[in-house]
Amino acid sequence: MTSTATKPRGARARAAIAAKTLRTDRWWFAPLITVVGLSAWVAYATVRVFMHKWYWVDQYHYLTPFYSPCVTDRCVEGSSHFGSFLPGWWIIPDAALTLPFLLLFRLTCYYYRKAYYRSFWLSPPACAVPDGHKSYSGETRFPLLGQNLHRYFFYAAAIISLINTWDAVLAFHSPQGFGFGLGNIVLLVNVVMLWAYTISCHSCRHIIGGRLKHFSAHPVRYRAWTFVSKLNTRHMQLAWITLGTLAFTDFYVMAIAAGWFNDLRFIN
Ligand code: FES
Repeated sequence: MTSTATKPRGARARAAIAAKTLRTDRWWFAPLITVVGLSAWVAYATVRVFMHKWYWVDQYHYLTPFYSPCVTDRCVEGSSHFGSFLPGWWIIPDAALTLPFLLLFRLTCYYYRKAYYRSFWLSPPACAVPDGHKSYSGETRFPLLGQNLHRYFFYAAAIISLINTWDAVLAFHSPQGFGFGLGNIVLLVNVVMLWAYTISCHSCRHIIGGRLKHFSAHPVRYRAWTFVSKLNTRHMQLAWITLGTLAFTDFYVMAIAAGWFNDLRFIN
């Protein structure tokens, strides 16, 4: 390694290091696995959203979260819990009211920002590894300035989690009345994980415990903030777990709807 003093920039000079990075560990592995994981998920979700079939199991009232709520006039009978008022054009997702907000919620999420800034934009790909770009403007200009809207997408995501919860409740159905099967467990686990991810959001933590001068004067908010803070330390894991539960729930509902296998029923 050779190292010489650079021309001072501002008040301080920095060492010029010829090597791109001095790291010898597998620093590239995390960005690589992030690119592979996120690309695979986006490809699967895109295919499913525009497939326009196998999203509803009429017998048990299972609705995949990728089509919830189903609001186009193409939605099959029984799957529209909130009306079907949009035209059923191929390019319009059947859950056109919710998917854009969910996409924006995840795109502006503090964890995902770190993930795709590092892996897709190489900005920078890892600590002590040079940025892939010559200039850096942070999130001070359009379009990245829009990342500040994350707190508002949090409210939308919370409402959508309520809708997903309602879907999971409606799914306790069978042709005989009340029913319970493996599909219910899949839907419930997905909803619990979605709530865990949503309330572990940094904006949620601030909404619950921010701007308070004295926690002692707000014991309920303090307890809620403590709970959310614990979840918040697992935000990255929850971000990935919910990608998994969403895709698995959708696949399970698709498989039952397509008749690839039958739902395992415990009651009715
Ligand atoms: S910070 Fe990730 S969802 Fe809000």
